[in-house]
Amino acid sequence: MDVQGVRAAYRRYARHYDLYFGRVFHQGRKVAIEQMGIRPGEHVLEVGVGTGLALPEYPKGVRVTGTDLSPHMIERAQSRVDDMDLPDVTLLEMDASAMDFADASFDHVVAMYVLSVAPEPERMISEMRRVCKPGGRLYIVNHFRSRNPVVGGVERAMAPLSKLLGFRPDFALDEFVARNQLDVIEILPVNLFGYWTLLTAGREPAAEGAASGAAALEQRARRNKKHLRKRRLNRGRTAPETQTGRIMDDHRGP
Ligand SMILES: C[S@@+](CC[C@H](N)C(=O)[O-])C[C@H]1O[C@@H](n2cnc3c(N)ncnc32)[C@H](O)[C@@H]1O
Repeated sequence: MDVQGVRAAYRRYARHYDLYFGRVFHQGRKVAIEQMGIRPGEHVLEVGVGTGLALPEYPKGVRVTGTDLSPHMIERAQSRVDDMDLPDVTLLEMDASAMDFADASFDHVVAMYVLSVAPEPERMISEMRRVCKPGGRLYIVNHFRSRNPVVGGVERAMAPLSKLLGFRPDFALDEFVARNQLDVIEILPVNLFGYWTLLTAGREPAAEGAASGAAALEQRARRNKKHLRKRRLNRGRTAPETQTGRIMDDHRGP
């Protein structure tokens, strides 16, 4: 898909987007925002904000900037912001792979269900990194190719239909992590059957071998799905300022 293709697709989808992609994908949006452990005064960038379905989930008083390639999706997001009176949200039509923001502008940068649709995912990641403050994090919610040989095979077979489908069904997590040298901090399965993934990565590039580290994290996360759900619930009960540290601690442990 190129930029014009994305705009054309989302001009068609915008009207019915919430109906088809609202509830069914909402858990992933909520978990991504919880995972940020946003502190008062922080500034979040949500690229590919779409119709703004995630916007009401951000804590009150947090500044959120949402961008999207599609003017039709942004228009819907703006109506949501006006209807729900979300005064801390700013919306801009902008390509996430060439952003107008200065370096190190945001504390958290998130892309939900955008990667498989974006014309240049690598450039988008590089831009997300650039505009994120040092020490900040990137959050990516996406479907990656299943490790189940049958499901993964079907997804691979569907790859030539990417243009028609409007997304890449066979996005491989390991290749993506390696290509972008992502420093993966956490991987959580989200949504129905845990078929989608929330990937949390540091802003700075990882050392060699990032992909195998990510694969191990993913396998562990899928084995521990129940445990993760419980931990998320508990995390929701703790003070926001302690959340980020706890996530890091979990991953630095033996
Ligand atoms: C599947 S929708 C996801 C929308 C929203 N994040 C959500 O959770 O529902 C993908 C969105 O990404 C946008 N998009 C794709 N490529 C983009 C890019 N390079 N820059 C900004 N937005 C992009 C599309 O216009 C579309 O609104």
